[in-house]
Parts: sequence; structure tokens; C-alpha cells
Amino acid sequence: MNIIKALNWRYAVRQFSDEAIDEYQLQELLNAARLSASSYGLQPYQLLVVQSADIRQKLLAHSMGQDKVAHCSHLLILAARTNIGDDIVNHYMQKLSTAREIPLTDLQGFSDHIKEGFEIMSEQQKQDWAHQQAYIALGNLLTCAAIMQIDTCPMAGFEAKGYDKVLGLAEKSLTTTVICPIGKRHPNDSSAYMQKVRLNHDEMVIRL
Ligand SMILES: Cc1cc2nc3c(=O)[nH]c(=O)nc-3n(C[C@H](O)[C@H](O)[C@H](O)COP(=O)(O)O)c2cc1C
Repeated sequence: MNIIKALNWRYAVRQFSDEAIDEYQLQELLNAARLSASSYGLQPYQLLVVQSADIRQKLLAHSMGQDKVAHCSHLLILAARTNIGDDIVNHYMQKLSTAREIPLTDLQGFSDHIKEGFEIMSEQQKQDWAHQQAYIALGNLLTCAAIMQIDTCPMAGFEAKGYDKVLGLAEKSLTTTVICPIGKRHPNDSSAYMQKVRLNHDEMVIRL
């Protein structure tokens, strides 16, 4: 599908049908999210795929009454890492060294540079940075889903503390950034017929 056509086709779905996304399509979408760009390539977040009806019912209690978290094909959750520091950098350097066949010793300068950057950041700044990176993956995921004609609804309307507790994220050094039910739009979803509201080109774009 043409990119602008796909972006006009997508909207934030308020009511999903019972239809499930097939496993191949789901894998493809998760792969697209995995390929998202991130600062230094560190990808300081994980992507949870919640299919369990029981878990989704528990999450519903922390979703500001938005029952699409329980009534959709899969609930995707982007969760930022809470332990930003040497470990994440070391892990990335290992992968970089293997993938590009560069000795770790040659990556020492790059590694130190990133670690020094984190050292001068407050815990809050590091957490904000990790959340920002997860949002990049969300944007990519929404666009790729639209191209694949998978419906989505990005959601910030939930209580992160409740989600973290239900999902046991503290034990995994993660905290919920943003969530995204995916699936197929319900034929009765009235949001499907609403006119798009966007800034005009001249309101948005500044050319210098
Ligand atoms: C970060 C973010 C959080 C959002 N949170 C919610 C939400 O909690 N519930 C909801 O129904 N829609 C939510 N939306 C959807 C927006 O309301 C919607 O994208 C916006 O109004 C533009 O409409 P469209 O996406 O249908 O074109 C959210 C969107 C984003 C990007």
C-alpha cells in the first residue's frame, strides 16, 4: 500500500473485532519494531506481547476503563529499562564486536564515551531517555502496522505502576512506557469514519 494511503487508512482504533492477527503477521510486525533506530543503537527497552486473557483482564483494572486492552488480538507493551548504565553498553559492544568482527579493544573509546555520557545524567534523565527510545519503536510499529493493514491504538491512558506490578516488570528492571492493542477494527467502530485532524503543511513545516 502507498505510504500516505496507509497512514490515512490507520487511525487509533477504539473497538477491535474478535479476529486474531495471524502468527506470521505478528512476527513480521515485531521484527519491524525490533529494527527501529535508537540512540547509539542501545535499544533500552523490551517489547511484551500479552495474549493471555487472564493477564489482560488484570491490566484492564489499570487502563482507565479502556477495555480494548482486553478486547483485541494482542496487547503490545513497550517497557523501558530502568538499569541504564555500564551493563547495557557492555552488552551492545559485545554484539557490535561479533556482528562487525571488530575486536572489543577497538571499541573501548566508543564504549567509554557512551558510559561517560550516562554518568553525568540523573536517574530521571536516563529514564526519560529510555522512554524516548521506546517511543521511537512505537512510531515505527504504528507505521509498519498500517502498511501491513494491522490495526492499532497507541495508548498512554493507563497507570504504569499497576501495569508494572501485574507484569512483574520491576524484577526484570523494566517499567511500562506505552501500550498498544493490535488487531482488526470492529465494523461498528465509529472512530473509523472520523475525519483526520492534523496540522496543515504550513503549520507543521518550517523550511529555511
Ligand atoms: C502516545 C499516545 C497516547 C495515546 N493514548 C490514547 C489512549 O489512551 N486512548 C485512546 O483511545 N487513544 C489514545 N491515543 C490516540 C490518539 O488520540 C490519536 O492518535 C489522535 O487523536 C490522532 O488520531 P488518529 O491516530 O486516529 O489519526 C494516543 C496516541 C498516542 C500517540
